[in-house]
Amino acid sequence: MTDALISPAIPKPLPQSESPAKLAILASGNGSNLEAIAAAIDREDLNATIQVVIYNNPDAQVANRASDRGLPAVLLNHREFDSREALDRAIINAVKDHDAEWVIMAGWMRRVTEVLINAFSKRILNIHPSLLPSFPGIRAVEQALTAGVKVTGCTVHYVELVIDSGPIIMQAVVPVQPDDTLQSLQTRIQTQEHRIYPAAIAIA
Ligand code: GRF
Repeated sequence: MTDALISPAIPKPLPQSESPAKLAILASGNGSNLEAIAAAIDREDLNATIQVVIYNNPDAQVANRASDRGLPAVLLNHREFDSREALDRAIINAVKDHDAEWVIMAGWMRRVTEVLINAFSKRILNIHPSLLPSFPGIRAVEQALTAGVKVTGCTVHYVELVIDSGPIIMQAVVPVQPDDTLQSLQTRIQTQEHRIYPAAIAIA
Protein backbone atom coordinates (compact mmCIF):
# COMPACT_ATOMS: atom_id res chain seq x y z
CA MET A 1 0.00 0.00 0.00
CA THR A 2 1.53 3.33 -0.99
CA ASP A 3 1.09 6.52 0.99
CA ALA A 4 -0.46 8.33 -1.95
CA LEU A 5 -3.17 5.70 -2.41
CA ILE A 6 -4.65 6.17 0.99
CA SER A 7 -3.99 9.85 1.49
CA PRO A 8 -6.90 12.18 0.83
CA ALA A 9 -7.46 13.20 -2.75
CA ILE A 10 -6.62 16.86 -3.09
CA PRO A 11 -8.84 18.74 -5.53
CA LYS A 12 -7.05 20.54 -8.33
CA PRO A 13 -7.34 23.38 -9.03
CA LEU A 14 -7.57 24.09 -5.34
CA PRO A 15 -10.33 26.34 -4.04
CA GLN A 16 -8.97 29.87 -4.01
CA SER A 17 -10.19 33.09 -2.52
CA GLU A 18 -10.13 36.06 -4.84
CA SER A 19 -7.33 37.95 -3.16
CA PRO A 20 -4.14 36.19 -2.09
CA ALA A 21 -4.02 35.04 1.52
CA LYS A 22 -1.29 36.96 3.29
CA LEU A 23 0.77 34.52 5.31
CA ALA A 24 3.23 34.86 8.17
CA ILE A 25 5.22 31.64 8.50
CA LEU A 26 6.50 30.73 11.98
CA ALA A 27 9.35 28.23 12.01
CA SER A 28 12.08 27.07 14.36
CA GLY A 29 14.22 24.72 12.33
CA ASN A 30 14.76 23.33 8.89
CA GLY A 31 11.93 25.04 7.03
CA SER A 32 11.04 22.34 4.51
CA ASN A 33 7.36 23.20 4.98
CA LEU A 34 8.12 26.85 4.22
CA GLU A 35 9.75 25.62 1.03
CA ALA A 36 6.72 23.48 0.15
CA ILE A 37 4.31 26.36 0.71
CA ALA A 38 6.46 28.75 -1.33
CA ALA A 39 6.71 26.18 -4.14
CA ALA A 40 2.92 25.73 -4.17
CA ILE A 41 2.53 29.50 -4.48
CA ASP A 42 5.04 29.53 -7.37
CA ARG A 43 3.11 26.75 -9.13
CA GLU A 44 -0.12 28.73 -8.56
CA ASP A 45 -1.59 25.85 -6.61
CA LEU A 46 -2.01 28.22 -3.67
CA ASN A 47 -3.24 31.78 -3.99
CA ALA A 48 -1.17 33.36 -1.24
CA THR A 49 1.83 35.54 -0.49
CA ILE A 50 4.41 34.97 2.19
CA GLN A 51 4.63 38.35 3.85
CA VAL A 52 7.18 37.39 6.50
CA VAL A 53 9.04 34.43 7.98
CA ILE A 54 9.39 34.60 11.76
CA TYR A 55 11.93 32.33 13.41
CA ASN A 56 13.22 31.95 16.96
CA ASN A 57 16.56 30.14 16.63
CA PRO A 58 19.40 32.29 15.27
CA ASP A 59 20.96 29.29 13.51
CA ALA A 60 17.77 27.94 11.97
CA GLN A 61 18.10 26.78 8.39
CA VAL A 62 14.74 28.37 7.68
CA ALA A 63 16.44 31.78 7.79
CA ASN A 64 18.67 30.77 4.86
CA ARG A 65 15.70 29.44 2.95
CA ALA A 66 13.85 32.74 3.47
CA SER A 67 16.86 34.71 2.35
CA ASP A 68 17.37 32.52 -0.75
CA ARG A 69 13.79 33.25 -1.71
CA GLY A 70 14.06 36.96 -0.93
CA LEU A 71 11.44 36.73 1.80
CA PRO A 72 11.50 39.15 4.74
CA ALA A 73 12.61 37.31 7.87
CA VAL A 74 12.37 38.39 11.49
CA LEU A 75 14.33 36.73 14.29
CA LEU A 76 12.44 36.70 17.58
CA ASN A 77 14.77 34.82 19.88
CA HIS A 78 12.59 33.44 22.68
CA ARG A 79 15.56 33.59 25.07
CA GLU A 80 15.37 37.37 24.93
CA PHE A 81 11.77 37.55 26.15
CA ASP A 82 10.65 37.50 29.78
CA SER A 83 7.53 35.43 29.16
CA ARG A 84 5.65 33.49 26.52
CA GLU A 85 3.14 36.35 26.39
CA ALA A 86 5.90 38.86 25.63
CA LEU A 87 7.12 36.69 22.75
CA ASP A 88 3.57 36.39 21.47
CA ARG A 89 3.15 40.18 21.56
CA ALA A 90 6.31 40.54 19.48
CA ILE A 91 4.97 37.96 17.02
CA ILE A 92 1.72 39.90 16.70
CA ASN A 93 3.66 43.09 15.97
CA ALA A 94 5.83 41.40 13.35
CA VAL A 95 2.80 39.82 11.66
CA LYS A 96 0.95 43.14 11.58
CA ASP A 97 4.02 45.16 10.53
CA HIS A 98 4.28 42.91 7.49
CA ASP A 99 0.59 43.14 6.71
CA ALA A 100 -0.01 39.40 7.17
CA GLU A 101 -3.39 37.96 8.14
CA TRP A 102 -2.68 34.27 8.66
CA VAL A 103 -0.22 32.72 11.09
CA ILE A 104 1.14 29.48 9.67
CA MET A 105 3.13 27.44 12.16
CA ALA A 106 5.55 25.27 10.21
CA GLY A 107 7.71 23.57 12.79
CA TRP A 108 7.29 26.34 15.38
CA MET A 109 8.57 24.75 18.57
CA ARG A 110 7.27 27.27 21.10
CA ARG A 111 4.05 27.00 23.05
CA VAL A 112 1.74 29.93 22.30
CA THR A 113 -0.61 31.72 24.68
CA GLU A 114 -4.06 33.25 24.56
CA VAL A 115 -2.39 36.52 23.59
CA LEU A 116 -1.55 35.19 20.11
CA ILE A 117 -4.61 33.00 19.78
CA ASN A 118 -7.00 35.85 20.55
CA ALA A 119 -5.22 38.19 18.15
CA PHE A 120 -5.72 35.85 15.16
CA SER A 121 -8.80 33.89 16.04
CA LYS A 122 -9.28 30.95 13.61
CA ARG A 123 -6.39 32.23 11.54
CA ILE A 124 -3.57 30.23 13.09
CA LEU A 125 -2.70 26.87 11.54
CA ASN A 126 -0.27 24.19 12.61
CA ILE A 127 1.08 20.99 11.10
CA HIS A 128 1.77 18.00 13.32
CA PRO A 129 3.47 14.73 12.35
CA SER A 130 0.78 12.32 13.52
CA LEU A 131 -2.86 11.55 12.95
CA LEU A 132 -4.24 13.72 15.73
CA PRO A 133 -5.70 13.25 18.27
CA SER A 134 -3.15 10.41 18.50
CA PHE A 135 0.35 11.35 19.63
CA PRO A 136 0.17 15.07 20.38
CA GLY A 137 3.21 16.88 21.74
CA ILE A 138 6.87 16.33 21.08
CA ARG A 139 8.47 13.31 19.37
CA ALA A 140 5.20 12.31 17.71
CA VAL A 141 6.86 10.04 15.15
CA GLU A 142 8.80 8.26 17.88
CA GLN A 143 5.61 7.91 19.91
CA ALA A 144 3.88 6.26 16.95
CA LEU A 145 6.76 3.84 16.35
CA THR A 146 6.88 2.91 20.02
CA ALA A 147 3.14 2.32 20.12
CA GLY A 148 3.45 -0.06 17.17
CA VAL A 149 0.68 1.55 15.14
CA LYS A 150 0.31 0.30 11.58
CA VAL A 151 -0.64 3.67 10.15
CA THR A 152 0.30 7.17 11.14
CA GLY A 153 0.53 10.41 9.18
CA CYS A 154 0.20 14.14 9.57
CA THR A 155 -2.47 16.68 10.43
CA VAL A 156 -3.10 20.33 9.64
CA HIS A 157 -5.35 21.94 12.23
CA TYR A 158 -6.46 25.28 13.61
CA VAL A 159 -4.52 26.21 16.73
CA GLU A 160 -6.22 26.37 20.09
CA LEU A 161 -4.73 26.78 23.55
CA VAL A 162 -4.31 23.07 24.28
CA ILE A 163 -1.30 21.89 22.32
CA ASP A 164 -2.06 20.03 19.07
CA SER A 165 -5.81 20.35 19.58
CA GLY A 166 -8.19 22.42 17.49
CA PRO A 167 -10.39 21.59 14.50
CA ILE A 168 -8.70 19.40 11.90
CA ILE A 169 -8.49 20.77 8.36
CA MET A 170 -6.67 17.97 6.53
CA GLN A 171 -4.82 14.75 7.25
CA ALA A 172 -2.68 12.35 5.25
CA VAL A 173 -2.14 8.72 6.16
CA VAL A 174 1.27 7.05 6.07
CA PRO A 175 1.51 3.28 6.63
CA VAL A 176 4.27 2.17 9.00
CA GLN A 177 6.54 -0.42 7.36
CA PRO A 178 7.93 -3.30 9.46
CA ASP A 179 11.52 -2.13 8.88
CA ASP A 180 10.84 1.58 9.43
CA THR A 181 13.33 3.61 11.42
CA LEU A 182 12.55 6.96 12.96
CA GLN A 183 14.31 8.60 10.02
CA SER A 184 12.59 6.63 7.26
CA LEU A 185 9.14 7.12 8.73
CA GLN A 186 9.77 10.79 9.40
CA THR A 187 10.89 11.30 5.80
CA ARG A 188 7.72 9.74 4.39
CA ILE A 189 5.53 11.75 6.77
CA GLN A 190 7.28 14.95 5.71
CA THR A 191 6.62 14.17 2.05
CA GLN A 192 2.93 14.11 2.91
CA GLU A 193 3.22 17.26 5.04
CA HIS A 194 4.57 19.10 2.03
CA ARG A 195 1.60 17.93 0.02
CA ILE A 196 -1.20 18.70 2.46
CA TYR A 197 -0.05 21.94 4.09
CA PRO A 198 -0.47 24.14 1.01
CA ALA A 199 -3.75 22.36 0.20
CA ALA A 200 -5.05 22.90 3.73
CA ILE A 201 -4.14 26.59 3.68
CA ALA A 202 -6.08 26.92 0.44
CA ILE A 203 -9.29 25.64 2.04
CA ALA A 204 -8.88 27.08 5.56
C1 GRF B 1 7.44 18.99 10.77
O1 GRF B 1 7.65 17.63 10.79
C2 GRF B 1 6.17 19.36 11.49
O2 GRF B 1 5.24 18.34 11.48
C3 GRF B 1 6.63 19.60 12.89
O3 GRF B 1 7.91 20.18 12.75
C4 GRF B 1 8.50 19.74 11.54
C5 GRF B 1 9.02 20.93 10.81
O4 GRF B 1 9.78 20.59 9.69
N1 GRF B 1 5.68 20.42 13.59
P1 GRF B 1 10.36 21.71 8.74
O5 GRF B 1 11.13 22.69 9.60
O6 GRF B 1 9.23 22.38 8.03
O7 GRF B 1 11.27 21.00 7.79
